Amino acid sequence: MATEKIKFAVFASGAGSNTRKIIEYFKSHELGEVALVVCNNPKAGVLQIAEDAGIPSLLIEKDPFKTTGYLKELRDYGIRFIVLAGFLWKIPPVLIEAFPQRIINIHPALLPKYGGKGMYGMAVHKAVLEAGEQESGITIHYVDEHYDHGDHILQEKVGVDPQDTPESLAGKIHVLEHRYLPETIEKIIRHLIANERSKS
Ligand code: GAR
Repeated sequence: MATEKIKFAVFASGAGSNTRKIIEYFKSHELGEVALVVCNNPKAGVLQIAEDAGIPSLLIEKDPFKTTGYLKELRDYGIRFIVLAGFLWKIPPVLIEAFPQRIINIHPALLPKYGGKGMYGMAVHKAVLEAGEQESGITIHYVDEHYDHGDHILQEKVGVDPQDTPESLAGKIHVLEHRYLPETIEKIIRHLIANERSKS
């Protein structure tokens, strides 16, 4: 029996290197499909990545996002799962309720350290270096109503060298992210499909 693909959205605010990897990974995948890229920044590189891949994008604004979560638009695109890949804004309760345990985030540090409001991208790596940490890494976790807070799905570590700069550390972290985020999404999609089959 052919399974209908799980359509998912990637929310991203920046350059979009993770989004690019996710799109490549799921390009001809039999189980999942990037059906929409959601972005809050009209200048973000991720919009070009979506366009080049022929994937629709949705540019969102803060106030309607807080109140409606753009839920109608997400439903119209058949979205069943959401990946935050470098997304800046807090996810409103309306979306958390509509997608329970169906929203995941990638954070470029070993949560619960170096998470929370303002802890985004390079700010995270600067904080890790200033604290003299000997290791950092990535955390993939479910999203709840607090920043960088929900249940962890995966953590992977990388060593911090004395000569590391925020940029070099970001590079090491991106290698981990690009390797583990697409395959973690695939595992979750496989679970979703298995759960649905067991209920039907
Ligand atoms: C990634 O490193 C991601 O972990 C981070 O933003 C970067 C986006 O890079 N996310 C956060 O800091 C969330 N708090 P990209 O645009 O190249 O994918």
